[in-house]
Amino acid sequence: MDNMNNNLPERDGFASRFGIIAAAAGSAIGLGNIWKFPYITGIYGGAAFIIVYLVCIAIIGSPVMLSEFAIGRRAQKNAIGSFKVLAPNTPWFVTGWLGFLAAFSILSFYGVVAGWTLDYIVQSLTNSFAGADAEAIGGMFGTLVSKTWTPIFWQVVFMAMTAGVVLGGIKDGIEKYTKILMPMLLVIIIILDIRAVTLPGAGAGVAFLFKPNWDLINGEAVLSALGHAFFSLSLGMGTMITYGSYIGKKENLGEIALQVTLADTAIALLAGLAMFPAVFAYGIEPAAGPSLVFITLPNVFQQMPGGYIFQILFFSLLAVAALTSSVSILEVVVAYFHEEKNISRKSAVITATVMITLVGMAASLSMGPWAGIKIPLPGFGSVNIFDWLDLFSANYLLPLGGFFISLFIGWGMEPEDVYEEVSNDGDLKVGYLGLFKIATKFVAPAGIAIVFLSNFGVFDFILK
Ligand code: TRP
Repeated sequence: MDNMNNNLPERDGFASRFGIIAAAAGSAIGLGNIWKFPYITGIYGGAAFIIVYLVCIAIIGSPVMLSEFAIGRRAQKNAIGSFKVLAPNTPWFVTGWLGFLAAFSILSFYGVVAGWTLDYIVQSLTNSFAGADAEAIGGMFGTLVSKTWTPIFWQVVFMAMTAGVVLGGIKDGIEKYTKILMPMLLVIIIILDIRAVTLPGAGAGVAFLFKPNWDLINGEAVLSALGHAFFSLSLGMGTMITYGSYIGKKENLGEIALQVTLADTAIALLAGLAMFPAVFAYGIEPAAGPSLVFITLPNVFQQMPGGYIFQILFFSLLAVAALTSSVSILEVVVAYFHEEKNISRKSAVITATVMITLVGMAASLSMGPWAGIKIPLPGFGSVNIFDWLDLFSANYLLPLGGFFISLFIGWGMEPEDVYEEVSNDGDLKVGYLGLFKIATKFVAPAGIAIVFLSNFGVFDFILK
């Protein structure tokens, strides 16, 4: 993004159409697709969960993404400021506040997981998984995450990298890297898919992904699918409002939202396809949780020609994918500190990074020495700090943010303004406008509300 966008003389803008997609897709595609999607699919039993997830993406995720882009481009402001500009003297800006809170809790544990990927790059370079079977690799992973200092060291390194990119200007960095590295990640995942589905014993994993079993689908599973739709698409937090404010006035927001949604969903499904055939082939427990990817893939790489190189490349690209996402999360907090609290960008970055890293350290310790500390979370029992931050943000804060964002587009803004924004003042034909209205007025808010209530058991008597 070296040059300013012609349409927006006073603000930075994305340099190219591809740059917009790369940055937004770079935010969406991250650990959510490759680490989290496979492991929660494993917990909730495979194909049936994926179907619920895809429905959430289609009828709630994609309209909320377009809503965020439209709000940001209309207001030309950050997540909290946008509501203040579009709806002055109303409480809508609280939506931005929720996003601030979500950014804080997501990035704290996100940095820990990204730190694990950095450790895995080093372990891949030194070939330390060589000859180890699934059980031994599982043991190595358990040892790593339960240590006191090693995971914290890598978390700090990763957070420093995130702060560095945000400080140096996201635009030059992100746009340049994502253009080359994201397609490379895609290629490696496809190679992994081919290896995984041709492993002896892969059939059970393929069946797990494609044959729905509805037994494990309850209120908690549906809320997790919805929460993950928001998490994976980077929604409900203001990231896409902020990025929307950088999109030029001539671009077709509906088309961009669709492309980013499709790219993110494709990567998640391909990651699942790389994982489950191998999970079953090696006798790994599909419901293993956060360790799933970290145990499964080193096994696959061992049985691949060139696996040594592929593994180094894969974990490096995964770290980069995590970085292009973490940067978009940190930016929400930094923009708030900088613009609303009037501190310099540099101090904003340092303050935000230090605070988030400290909370993240607690999350890291909760996988080891602090494992005994359990905090209650409605609907999910009592969980450790790491899981609490993850579950609370993805399943409560993001859907709540999305609820208000869709209500804001559906009921808060003038219909004329919404139409002008998505149609570029009438230049574009927006055949989907009717559907978009129905989605933002009714389907998305009602869907989110129903899923919330069902998680508290309100509808259990119907489902049972
Ligand atoms: N979507 C990213 C992932 O899948 C994580 C992420 C980046 C995010 N920005 C976000 C999640 C904003 C929620 C909200 O890894």
